[in-house]
Amino acid sequence: MKKIALTGIKPTGILHIGNYFGAIKPALALSADYDARYFIADYHALNTVKDAKELSGLIRQVAAGWLAAGLDPERVIFYRQSAIPETFELSTALMAFTGKGLMNRAHAYKAAVQANTGKADDPDAGVNMGLFTYPVLMAADIILFDSDVVPVGKDQVQHVEMAQDIAQAVNFNYKAEVLKVPQAAVQESVAVVPGLDGRKMSKSYGNTIPLFAPEKDLRKLIMRIVTNSQGVEEPKDPETSQIFLLYKLFATADEQAALAARYREGGMGWGVAKEELFRVVNRELTPLREKFNAIMADPKALDETLAQGAEKARRIAGQTISRLRKAAGID
Ligand code: ADP
Ligand code: TRP
Repeated sequence: MKKIALTGIKPTGILHIGNYFGAIKPALALSADYDARYFIADYHALNTVKDAKELSGLIRQVAAGWLAAGLDPERVIFYRQSAIPETFELSTALMAFTGKGLMNRAHAYKAAVQANTGKADDPDAGVNMGLFTYPVLMAADIILFDSDVVPVGKDQVQHVEMAQDIAQAVNFNYKAEVLKVPQAAVQESVAVVPGLDGRKMSKSYGNTIPLFAPEKDLRKLIMRIVTNSQGVEEPKDPETSQIFLLYKLFATADEQAALAARYREGGMGWGVAKEELFRVVNRELTPLREKFNAIMADPKALDETLAQGAEKARRIAGQTISRLRKAAGID
């Protein structure tokens, strides 16, 4: 039997090429070897996105984005967290096994408290219980589906370790293997994709290249990449150029070697390097953009895909809940 890989995607912003190379592509590659369960963590997003129209739009765009990028819903169970009520039942049960002290140590909560302390504010100002209990809901997402591995970025490892602690506390209490203890799978090899200003591409820095930007906008964004003041004739070092780092993600090995040589020879200005970057980015993203637009144009079909995924997911979820209820004496 294949092992189970599960990950959640928070719909808090439109997808950009950092998400594509850092999360989407590696997760889709993993789905070839695992029974994959990938979901839209919409209740996690509710902690920060409080505008209904915005959240509903983001849920659809992120779901369509994963499908456009190649997620096959026949092979991957793909669903919305909010469509699985068992998640919230499990989350409530797990609360009884989660020390408050464990939550106090969560990075996101600690960072919020630290920021408040710096401003001489109430330590818990602006902290809602959704943020405070975020790791319990995430543990429920993971444990509900008997996940073996959880592909995540480094920032999420602590949350997966908390899920381990919580599952172990349940198993220890009932002296039985009631819940599966998950492992984090961190993709060490995934490079940080640089943004337009050279910092890590991130929606919080406003330096992203959206994955499905129309061709015209894509060209404009690429032309905006910050460069140094080296003139056309000067030889340039490809390895320290943001443009070349992005180019490497999209170009073939031959194309990379050829462009690196042109950098080193001199005689090529940044404008030409950007045109060449635009060509390869647009080549890879055009089919994705077309697929994304087609999915977004048929909201009924998208809902149907997600509903089918939820149905499959709930069959598995129900079994975990019965196991736990039985063990706990609430059957
Ligand atoms: P953002 O930084 O834009 O808020 P998220 O934190 O929502 O992005 O990230 C979602 C996923 O995409 C995570 O797995 C994260 O590791 C990955 N990711 C985001 N930005 C990058 C980047 N610039 N390079 C590589 N991976 C990234
Ligand atoms: N917390 C994750 C993030 O911010 C999203 C998430 C929610 C998740 N539930 C999960 C990831 C379960 C992996 C497994 O990116």
